Amino acid sequence: MKTFRYIVMPAIALLLAMNIYVFFYKGFIEPEIDESSEIKSSGEALVVGSFTLTDQNGNKVSDSDFKGKNMLVYFGFTNCPMICPTDMANLTQVLEELGEDAKKIQPVFITIDPQRDTPEQIKTFLSNFYPTFVGLTGTPREIADVANKYRIYYKQVEAEDLQEYTMDHSAYTYLMGKDGKYLAHFRHEQPIEEVVRRISQRIN
Ligand code: NI
Repeated sequence: MKTFRYIVMPAIALLLAMNIYVFFYKGFIEPEIDESSEIKSSGEALVVGSFTLTDQNGNKVSDSDFKGKNMLVYFGFTNCPMICPTDMANLTQVLEELGEDAKKIQPVFITIDPQRDTPEQIKTFLSNFYPTFVGLTGTPREIADVANKYRIYYKQVEAEDLQEYTMDHSAYTYLMGKDGKYLAHFRHEQPIEEVVRRISQRIN
């Protein structure tokens, strides 16, 4: 009986707690990738992010237009109160610190709120950040497609205290190679110096 009380019961409680954590936290907030799964065992890149979308000037843009450059891709929305502006400001700092290497990088912002994020709206938003940023929007279907390719979770949610809806979304930045294939990703609030170092190591 003691074994049951002191070992089995706590073990069950722990497992239960872990499952609840995984279900609510990992399941809803983070896509199913982590540092160790950057590259699948087959050698295939986990993320292959081809797209054709509309930029902040109203022009059609494809990922192939950026071949020969490393893309730094961030998904967010311009009405985001906190996380997106913080991440975009951090990415701006990262690019500034990369100096000459920043010329090898095409920073790309892709909205997950195409309903409100028109090219004009994105253009205004981007004026606060690194000058070479391209901002992309599209039809809801085009956005769903590209978000799916990048394993980005997003969902429209009603906010009780707000007039308008807000968006729940994963906040990852992807570094893509010159061939358009996945190289690395960075989490929200990953230290700037670490991001700078990892990008320098990976771009060519
Ligand atoms: Ni956001």
